[in-house]
Amino acid sequence: MVRSLREEAIRTVSDDPKQTLKALSTELGLLIDGAADEESLYALQVKYLGKKGAVTQLRAHMGKLPPEERKGFGQAFNEAKLAIEQAIERRREALAEAARQRRLGRREDATLLPRRRPAGSLHPITHTRRRLEAVFRQMGFDVVDGPHVEDEKYNFDDLNFQDEHPARDMQDTFFVDGRDEAARLVLRTHTSPVQIRAMLTRPPPVRLVAPGTVFRRDDDATHSPMFHQIEGLCIDRGVGMADLKATLYRFVRAFFGADLQVRLRPSFFPFVEPGAEFDMQCPFCGGEGCNMCKGAGWIELGGSGMVHPAVLEAVGVDPEVYTGWAFGFGIDRMALMLHTVPHLRLMFEGDVRFLEQFPC
Ligand code: DAH
Repeated sequence: MVRSLREEAIRTVSDDPKQTLKALSTELGLLIDGAADEESLYALQVKYLGKKGAVTQLRAHMGKLPPEERKGFGQAFNEAKLAIEQAIERRREALAEAARQRRLGRREDATLLPRRRPAGSLHPITHTRRRLEAVFRQMGFDVVDGPHVEDEKYNFDDLNFQDEHPARDMQDTFFVDGRDEAARLVLRTHTSPVQIRAMLTRPPPVRLVAPGTVFRRDDDATHSPMFHQIEGLCIDRGVGMADLKATLYRFVRAFFGADLQVRLRPSFFPFVEPGAEFDMQCPFCGGEGCNMCKGAGWIELGGSGMVHPAVLEAVGVDPEVYTGWAFGFGIDRMALMLHTVPHLRLMFEGDVRFLEQFPC
């Protein structure tokens, strides 16, 4: 369109340069007002007012006019050119102002709703595990790790499991194929083998917790084949059950921020003697009985006890000199309680709509 306008100008200029000037000014005025940005405005300026521009060229045709008309045309030409230049300037200012308003609007409209940026967050189990670690660190425990694929010896034998102990059964344990019978590998069924690894590598006194993933062939409404535990171990001279109970009590108080009681109930685990399960007072009803504790007033946490002399001997620690206690409990249950989530499965399904509700 721009080109044809110019051709038109050149074609008709010989007929009536004044008419052409007028037509060109009108057309150009429209083009200028329609320029969308400073760049297209500049392009118009070059095209029409530049050395070879249509307007500039029109001036050369002045010579073709009869002498008495030249002055009048010259004046008209100068006025038209000035008007075009002013129109360009006005448009440039208007564009700059519009851009400024847009910037201002973006920055300063205090009524705009804040946009929430999608941000990742810790999985509630990871968040809970880190809180557990922080509490135990404060109580003077080291935090250690162990492998998920574990020697059967560390997972069972050295923990004083008898050969025919039912926990070794194929139904409970994932065995890893491809190794000879003498040194079988399993997916660790609990965090207790970290006790063995720790005692083999560090001389007493030992005071550690070992959180991590464990695996069992269990899969129903309330069990997942993969879940999380935290193990605690303390080996020193002269430590007893009272230290164990005091530690559990202090832990529960620090973790839940409430003065909740802890109780031990006699139980059996091959690697402790005596062994005990431990419960805490229900943090939801304070012990009066509610849905969360199924009316009991207590919530079962895990197992504990004095480290069995056979376990100490298996790792070369003299049970005549040292004693120790250990405990182990589920992390997932803790996370459910912290966030009052009803089902463990929700934690592992990876549904973003669920996970987004925990921006921790
Ligand atoms: N390892 C046991 C389990 O998975 C829990 C446990 C019981 C850990 C007693 C201990 C303990 O350290 O002393 O069921």
